[in-house]
Amino acid sequence: MQTVAERVEHQLTDKGYVPVYTTRVIEQPWDTYTATDHETWATLFKRQRELLVGRAANEFVENQERFGMSADTIPKFSELNRVLAETTGWELIAVEGLLPELTFFEHLASRRFPVTWWIRKPEQLDYLAEPDLFHDLFGHVPLLLNPVFADYMQAYGAGGVKAAAIAPEALANLTRLYWYTVEFGLIDTPEGLRIYGAGIVSSKGESIYSLESDAPNRIGFDLERVMRTRYRIDTYQKTYFVIDSYEQLIEATRPDFTPLYARLADAASHPAGDVLDSDTVYQRGTGEGWLSDGDV
Ligand SMILES: [Fe+2]
Repeated sequence: MQTVAERVEHQLTDKGYVPVYTTRVIEQPWDTYTATDHETWATLFKRQRELLVGRAANEFVENQERFGMSADTIPKFSELNRVLAETTGWELIAVEGLLPELTFFEHLASRRFPVTWWIRKPEQLDYLAEPDLFHDLFGHVPLLLNPVFADYMQAYGAGGVKAAAIAPEALANLTRLYWYTVEFGLIDTPEGLRIYGAGIVSSKGESIYSLESDAPNRIGFDLERVMRTRYRIDTYQKTYFVIDSYEQLIEATRPDFTPLYARLADAASHPAGDVLDSDTVYQRGTGEGWLSDGDV
């Protein structure tokens, strides 16, 4: 079995220059993880779990426990897949890294979640530009046990396959939806705002910033608003969108987006930090520390 990552090209996308790997699905080469790899997992796992109690949505930590994820070792996808098979029917597949968009959408539409098999190096604990095993597994996989969120992810994939056939602009609209929900979403709960986005839960700094800083906006989720809003790839977000429930996501994505894409094609996008009169504002950010350009 070949386990060396194969970067075939670097592609300029709306996320900046990103490495694109082969689309090959491999066996997770679990036996090749080194002691350092397991240690990196343990360090990140302990650090984030401590931070996320009372910050992440309750089901996030509960589901990690249902999966049997622990700091002890990097989880085996085959064991996590047993739990998924008995619950929401998703399946984790091991990949070399970020996939071309259409391939990614096709996997999601078939309830397969691609997980990067390799983990970051110890000197990259706080930042790396591309998703690794920690981001994918710790950040994304827990909510695949939530039946409503699991259906949303599949619907998103199906929507992506459709948008890819419509126009690049439609895909850009849809990418913003993923960004502001699956990666950087907050949820309003009886105990207060909580994190559910994988991009936040896998980042120490942003787990604190997204909830506790006065700088960013926190605005009620609205599908069209989100699809028109640019975002940051190089700094913490200027705006976080807050859902009431995962049902709100699946409801919002139920209608056919084709007429919406047509309408949005003529509408200007919103800068990442703008607050509109029509917004439901949880927090109007002070904008402290924001860079004036660089929204994508
Ligand atoms: Fe991600």
